[in-house]
Amino acid sequence: MIQQNINLQPYNTFGLAVNAANFCEFSNIEELKDAISKFKDQPLLVLGGGSNMLLTKDVQGLVLKNNLKGIELVKEVGNDVWIKSMAGEVWHDLVMYAIENGYGGIENLSLIPGSVGAAPMQNIGAYGVEVKDVFDSLEAYNIENGNIEVFTNDQCQFGYRESVFKRSLKGKYIIVSVTLKLTKHSEINTSYGAIASELENMGVSQAGIKEVSQAVINIRQSKLPDPKEIGNSGSFFKNPVIGKSQFEQLKAKFPDIVNYPVDENHVKIAAGWLIDQAGWKGKTIGNYGVHKNQALVLVNYGGAKGQDIYQLSEDIMKSVKDIYGIDLEREVNVI
Ligand code: EPU
Repeated sequence: MIQQNINLQPYNTFGLAVNAANFCEFSNIEELKDAISKFKDQPLLVLGGGSNMLLTKDVQGLVLKNNLKGIELVKEVGNDVWIKSMAGEVWHDLVMYAIENGYGGIENLSLIPGSVGAAPMQNIGAYGVEVKDVFDSLEAYNIENGNIEVFTNDQCQFGYRESVFKRSLKGKYIIVSVTLKLTKHSEINTSYGAIASELENMGVSQAGIKEVSQAVINIRQSKLPDPKEIGNSGSFFKNPVIGKSQFEQLKAKFPDIVNYPVDENHVKIAAGWLIDQAGWKGKTIGNYGVHKNQALVLVNYGGAKGQDIYQLSEDIMKSVKDIYGIDLEREVNVI
């Protein structure tokens, strides 16, 4: 059913109130096909969990809310299991399903807000794991011809918070389902320092996937605001990657700069550190601002406008550029 003039506030984790001229929640492919056919040549916006977007204005054309549900075990070979989840499932519900069944691989990605369909779109990642590490394939609806097409891991061209669906195929496909290859023989990944120390805090000596998941949940809850309480979109910016020589110069001037080696010639810098050091952490402007525990997260305390948050992000980017000469890039999609 297509509805007119719908407030999108409940459908985006920033909690921004903008109107959709037309809105359709689809629970099967026929409904999707039908809605799209009525809005040929008009702009389409697909919402999953609405956790990675900043809505700055009313949305024309058609807004589609992906409500395709279902999780199933499709194949099992030795210790390997292939789990297919429809794109409208909540990502964390899929993580919990995996943990309850003893399937390892995505426990480090616990509590990431958003839907399953959005996960490959931007190759979600946290605590040393990215979805591409366990990704098998996905099915996507080709908006132009209505066919369902399969994309393998390689075809998705995953990068750091990147995939082909954010680049050359942007706006051309709607992700319908995602298949992950998980394992019953779980080797946990606690390479990320914070997990090891949280497990210690929890008094766990023999950690399995359940304990790692709980450690990640604890860390996230202590650092990141819950979108149900304070509107936000997780990391607003990406961690920038810069050249080695620029890094050496910065390091000489700012010896504490938090960095991770990428390859011989590149270094990734913690954007949260840059923004924090530039004095933005905890800054509040009326009903929006920069979160007090994590400078990478911009927040809406209630009633803020997307435009204001966008302007705040511009100001932060300018200040980081002035101080460090680094161009920050937004992780969220600005609509
Ligand atoms: N830092 C500060 N001040 C801050 C925030 C961070 O000094 O306000 C420093 C921290 O002390 C730490 C470093 O920056 O030394 C990195 O911080 P953290 O470990 O919190 O991770 P991050 O780089 O800020 C990234 C991802 C997160 C992911 C975490 C954990 C990006 C853009 N963000 O954050 O992903 O959960 O690592 O793996 O890559 C997301 O994408 O929405 C997201 C939350």
